[in-house]
Amino acid sequence: MSDHPLIEQFTAAGQGQVFAHWNLLDPAARDTLLAEAAEIDLAEIARLTRMLLGGAAAQVDLSELSPAPYEKRPEHGGEAAAWARAKAEGEAALRAGRVAAFTVAGGQGTRLGYDGPKGTFPVTPVRGKTLFQVFAEKILAAGRHYGRPLHWFIMTSHQNHAATEAFFKENGFFGLAAERVHFFRQGRMPAVDFDGRILLESPGHIAMSPDGHGGSLRALERSGALDLMAREGIDTLSYFQVDNPLVRCIDPAFIGWHLLRGSEMSSKMVPKAYAGEKVGHFCQQRGKLVVVEYSDLPQAMQEETDAAGGLRYLAGSIAIHVLDREFVRRMACPAGAGEATLPFHRADKKIPTVDAAGQPVKPEKPNGVKFEMFVFDALPFARNPVVIETLRADDFSPVKNAEGVDSPATCRADQQRQFARWLRAHGAEVPVDATGLPACTIEVSPLFGYDEDTFAASWRKLSPPPPIAEGLCLE
Ligand code: UTP
Repeated sequence: MSDHPLIEQFTAAGQGQVFAHWNLLDPAARDTLLAEAAEIDLAEIARLTRMLLGGAAAQVDLSELSPAPYEKRPEHGGEAAAWARAKAEGEAALRAGRVAAFTVAGGQGTRLGYDGPKGTFPVTPVRGKTLFQVFAEKILAAGRHYGRPLHWFIMTSHQNHAATEAFFKENGFFGLAAERVHFFRQGRMPAVDFDGRILLESPGHIAMSPDGHGGSLRALERSGALDLMAREGIDTLSYFQVDNPLVRCIDPAFIGWHLLRGSEMSSKMVPKAYAGEKVGHFCQQRGKLVVVEYSDLPQAMQEETDAAGGLRYLAGSIAIHVLDREFVRRMACPAGAGEATLPFHRADKKIPTVDAAGQPVKPEKPNGVKFEMFVFDALPFARNPVVIETLRADDFSPVKNAEGVDSPATCRADQQRQFARWLRAHGAEVPVDATGLPACTIEVSPLFGYDEDTFAASWRKLSPPPPIAEGLCLE
């Protein structure tokens, strides 16, 4: 065995098994393994093992919890004039070039089971446009609308980075200027067994996986994205996930609420569809905004009702945020010990590994733990965080699973319902069923309209309007 200093450090930390097959590796494979090992912060792994694996699982603190306040939509009792002011403020920021789009696309997408970066998955009902194309066209159209092309930051993983970049190049960046689309990789963490020993994926590779969407804050800093934003005069990031084509990538009212309140991190909520819906809950705790996951909120609290009979913990998180650039920097580079950092969470998983002889092992049940950070854990550290209500039908229909809820089929149907709603609201005859689903398959390109206002402006210009028929695509 070599006396390489890194190997000595790992051995001293009780992690010598990482180099168990060293003697079988050729020089190039040894270099690769050393490079992977060098990414690991052994003290951090030891700390996480103590905190998250030792003894009883840490209880989530539910003391002094109450529902978080949020800005209601005008149709649900919110003040229309305040929403109009917010929209005007957001539009001014967009015209001034202060806003960029930010997509987190580093996840592994295991539930969908699709072979390739999730953003390259086709989602639209007629043209079969991919998730990335839908976002690209929304961002392109918003840039045209406000007379300021937007920058777009896309966080990838080690696994999907090259394929993601290649996909954009092959598709001419979907009409966006290549120099305004920025890809960067998120960090990785090693998987460990239940005793905290780092697992190998093969004799020459450590089992590494992306460090969670919360890793985006560090990755924005490390990649130089924040510096680039500062140079370009961008101080506001519109954050969304790669799996949700309905999202309003650029929503002026949301941006405006964030700016007018001097918020460092803002969020959208939807009223939960039913008490036990599997979403995070926006709550308040000792003056801080927190998201409590459904799995941590006791059923009795999930079901609690207020005096009017409505759900008390109503506000569900849909993972859409606006972030202030310098807040991201502060979270990414804490000034010293005791400063704010995102915590890691453990996820027990089946992690393919190797046995003592270096032979592959495919576990049938969870054999170890991955460590992940969640972006919403930054909320308690943000000054003046604001939560606004949005309509699910206009912002949220994710593709998570191959079938059933939150699948390609439900998402296609939700897109069609939105297109039918817009058409009907502006005078078109579109037969729909009781759920609002049109009888024929239709699509509206984001370049025609990426929200109801922009749709209406394009629709008014069509004379005569086209008949609504199977396969209609407004582009
Ligand atoms: P999910 O929680 O749906 O995870 O991610 P996932 O890895 O994509 O999918 P499953 O659980 O394996 O099926 C929500 C969003 O956060 C991003 C994903 O790309 C998606 O946009 N994400 C998640 C990252 O960017 N990095 C991560 O490490 C995890």
